[in-house]
Amino acid sequence: TVGNSTNIVWHECPVGRLERQKLLKQKGCVIWITGLSGSGKSTLACALSQELYSRGYLAYVLDGDNVRHGLNRDLSFKAEDRAENIRRVGEVAKLFADAGIICIASLISPYRRDRDACRALLPDSTFIEVFMNIPLEVCEKRDPKGLYKLARAGKIKGFTGIDDPYEPPLDCEIVIEPKVGECPPPAAMAKQVISYLNDNGFLQ
Ligand code: PPS
Repeated sequence: TVGNSTNIVWHECPVGRLERQKLLKQKGCVIWITGLSGSGKSTLACALSQELYSRGYLAYVLDGDNVRHGLNRDLSFKAEDRAENIRRVGEVAKLFADAGIICIASLISPYRRDRDACRALLPDSTFIEVFMNIPLEVCEKRDPKGLYKLARAGKIKGFTGIDDPYEPPLDCEIVIEPKVGECPPPAAMAKQVISYLNDNGFLQ
């Protein structure tokens, strides 16, 4: 039995991950960007996919806000729905990585155990966790969508960082640090991640 299904059997195809990676000249992986709302996750995701594209590599962005418009439109922001949101995106990201693609997932993903569960889905060292270490004050000052203002006014309940938890990673592959109280420029953040991919053999 797998989950709620019985009598299901895994089917292998002759063309696998290694063949696809050879074709694409890159190693499939998941770059998981976690951090508070307004910390620059989506900005980094887009800058990174653009930088990779211009160097001839294939990446695909799974953004929390966007995925909640479709696949995850049935989910709220209570803890068990956030967990299900992360689980589904983790499973989809795993498929992209298996396709040989550099999958960039940008979600608040506030709970450590949910992120760790995604890490456990991926082959060794192909889950690269990126922490946007931007203080709440900086995110709240930026407030690009005006959501912190609404949360402070009590018009959004359970907003991450205000009246809902965020658990920073204890040990992750990449930390993006603020420069003089601000997010680093997008190109600088993207370069930091690309250096990691280069140094660890993900790009050929
Ligand atoms: S989570 O926690 O990983 O399930 O969240 P995610 O799917 O990344 O969605 C975060 C975006 O949803 C908007 N939003 C909220 N965020 C946090 N808490 C509450 N209550 C909330 N309600 C709506 C917000 O625009 C987040 O976008 P980002 O890009 O993170 O700013």
